Amino acid sequence: MTKDENIAEHDFGHVTVLLHEAAESLNLPSGAVAVDCTLGGGGHTRLLLEAVGKNGKVLAFDRDIMAIEHAQKAFAGQIFSGQLLLVHKPFSEMPDHVHKAGLAGSVAGILADLGVSSPQIDLGERGFSFLKDGPLDMRMDTTRPGTAAELVNTAEETELAIIFRDFGEEPMGRHFAKMICRQRLIAPFMTTGELASYVEKHSPYGSKSRKHPATKIFQALRIAVNGELTELDQFLTRAVPLLAPNGRLAIISFHSLEDRAVKRFFAEVSGKLKRQELSRMVAITERELDKMVNAQGRVVLPTPVEPSLQEVEANPRARSAKLRVFEKGC
Ligand SMILES: C[S@@+](CC[C@H](N)C(=O)[O-])C[C@H]1O[C@@H](n2cnc3c(N)ncnc32)[C@H](O)[C@@H]1O
Repeated sequence: MTKDENIAEHDFGHVTVLLHEAAESLNLPSGAVAVDCTLGGGGHTRLLLEAVGKNGKVLAFDRDIMAIEHAQKAFAGQIFSGQLLLVHKPFSEMPDHVHKAGLAGSVAGILADLGVSSPQIDLGERGFSFLKDGPLDMRMDTTRPGTAAELVNTAEETELAIIFRDFGEEPMGRHFAKMICRQRLIAPFMTTGELASYVEKHSPYGSKSRKHPATKIFQALRIAVNGELTELDQFLTRAVPLLAPNGRLAIISFHSLEDRAVKRFFAEVSGKLKRQELSRMVAITERELDKMVNAQGRVVLPTPVEPSLQEVEANPRARSAKLRVFEKGC
């Protein structure tokens, strides 16, 4: 790691996960255009800039204004020279920007390092963590409405139960939704501390559970508040046409809901899903299958790249990361 990389990471307080693995997986040629959908502390962005060189260009998106403001300082030189363009928008809107810039069909690599950055979790005032007391906020983009407190205090009980089940995979989702709705009539939940201790107090799991009982409830609320799975779906659906021939799309996911969505999407665009369907239906040769499937490209590695033991030891937040890479055909 260079001194510059260190400064950018430590200033922001985020240690980039699969730093070199992700940047190298894009196989970026010098002079290329690349997109970083999730700027964060800029660790990956810096490596993309190095890979494309002075004649290349990187477009970096983040919906968190803190990340954009940090990068405006950390990358002042590259912004001034036109090598880096920062965009404060959700990545579902990234394709519109690429189209507007006249770059659709000529992007050599797109990277998305999903989820939250460390300062979002570590700063109590961002309201993401059940371990740090603060306002019950959880918005990555604090310039848009819709905090976690609003959701928790106004959603129907059934809506909360569905959120806890679908986004938290919490088997006791209905129980927690019921308890929360009962309590909010007495006093609305305004802080992360209030919600975390209420969930802990009313948890049917007892004190033996390895994880804090609020873990899944907080994950579910965060995903709902930020529309994370919808964002991912909307971005994936429009990403492949932006790529140049042989261009690559690399995604790092941090939980099974995201990884399942990425895996399924890659199976679809690589023709694997259609291939399985067709080969079950009719007796057909491999060649005929190839023609009918009309794949848009290939999955680069059969299994996802995961962080090494050393990386997880140095940065436990990397432990659930999975990197999947797709390459567009010629
Ligand atoms: C895991 S961090 C990225 C870290 C970054 N790769 C680095 O090297 O520092 C995820 C970042 O993506 C941003 N983010 C998450 N979902 C987003 C979305 N839908 N649109 C734009 N930014 C998003 C978050 O605000 C956060 O800053």
